[in-house]
Formats: sequence, C-alpha cells, structure tokens
Amino acid sequence: MKIAIDGPSGAGKSTIAKLLAKKTGMLYLDTGAMYRALALKTYKTNTSIDDISAIEKILDSTQIEIDNSVVPMRIYLDGEDVSEAIREHHISALASAVSALKPVREKLVELQRYIAAKSDCILDGRDIGTHVLPDAEIKIFLVASVEERAKRRYEELRVKGCDCEYETIKQDIIIRDYNDMNRQISPLKKADDAIEIDSTFMTVEEVASEIERLIAKEKR
Ligand code: DC
Repeated sequence: MKIAIDGPSGAGKSTIAKLLAKKTGMLYLDTGAMYRALALKTYKTNTSIDDISAIEKILDSTQIEIDNSVVPMRIYLDGEDVSEAIREHHISALASAVSALKPVREKLVELQRYIAAKSDCILDGRDIGTHVLPDAEIKIFLVASVEERAKRRYEELRVKGCDCEYETIKQDIIIRDYNDMNRQISPLKKADDAIEIDSTFMTVEEVASEIERLIAKEKR
C-alpha cells in the first residue's frame, strides 16, 4: 500500500506521517528533506539557482542518501549527516526555489519512486498524489490556516532556541505557499482523488485516527 500526504508547509504532514509509520510499520519518506539537502548543497557551494548548468553538475556529482532503518530517518549529503542542517530557516526558502527547477525534480522524483517501489510506504510532499505516486491507494491533502501553521512553526523554532518573530514566519510561509502552488512543474495541488483534511482545529492523534480509518477501509 502507498499513502501520499501532500499539503502546504506547516500543515503537519511529517508529524502525521511519522506517527502513522510508527503505528503501521510502513516506511516513511520525507521528500521535502531531499529538496532541502540539495538546497543545502547549493548553499554550501555558493551556486546560484539561476545557473542551470551548475545545478545539473551538482545533481550529477551529489549523493543524497536516506537511512530509513532509524527513527526519525537520517539524511546524508555526500556522506555527511545533514538531518539537522537542512531544517535551518534559510534553507526552507532555498529549498522551495530549488524544487521549482526541472532537472532537480526529475532526479529527485526518480529517487523517490525507486525508494517507494521497495515496500509499503508513506510519502509526504507537495506532488506525491498528483505526480510521484499517482496510483497511491490513499491520498491525503492536509491543510491548516496560515495563522495556525505559522504558530506551530514559531513554537517549534522557539523550543529549539531560535529567537524568531511570528510575523516573519507567517510571511515566509505565505511566500513559500505561493511559490510552491504557482511553479510550472508539479505545483502543490490537491489530486482529484485526494481526501482533504483540515487540521487547524484537530490534534495530531485525531488526524492520524482519521487516516487510520481510511487505511482500514482500504484493506477491507
Ligand atoms: O516539506 P518541506 O517544507 O520540508 O519542503 C521543502 C520544500 O521542498 C518546499 O518548499 C517545496 C519543496 N517540495 C516539493 O516541491 N515537492 C515535494 N514533494 C516536497 C517538497
């Protein structure tokens, strides 16, 4: 069984997907982490995302590896564990920009499909239900109000000791939503056969239970 969870940033996709993976034993792949790893590489190498031939060279020479044998999964960039580094605030906007590039999407989608083909799995991202796994048995489009998403991200960053502003985070989310929804290739969009869940007033457990009900129904 394949489960696709798509939606805008901060809607709770990865939290829900991780919990479901734990409950069901299914493999979980955070596809956003892959775009983030590549964004980190462009940052480290000082590569402009407008320089497509340089980006293509990076794609050819970069190794992105996912270790799903540990929870939470670890991501390696050219052998280095970058699981924390890719979550830095400045990488989020860069990941959104990098993810709009055609060669980047082609390469990472291929890798995502290769990983997903191996077992039952839950993938979260922006284009899983529409493009990466169009035949997924369960497709969820997880949304929440921008205020709630900004609040969640703000609290998450504060816990990590980040001295950030709620308003800045909210504006960053608005810009990222716009970019992710309006890019030319595989924009963030609800698949026609996806079920929309609005998590604004729901707990993580409530959202997970709703998806578990769908899994049980699918298995019948
Ligand atoms: O889910 P995230 O915030 O970690 O994703 C980082 C960026 O990567 C996001 O702004 C859009 C992009 N992304 C994408 O285009 N397609 C995916 N399947 C996953 C993420």
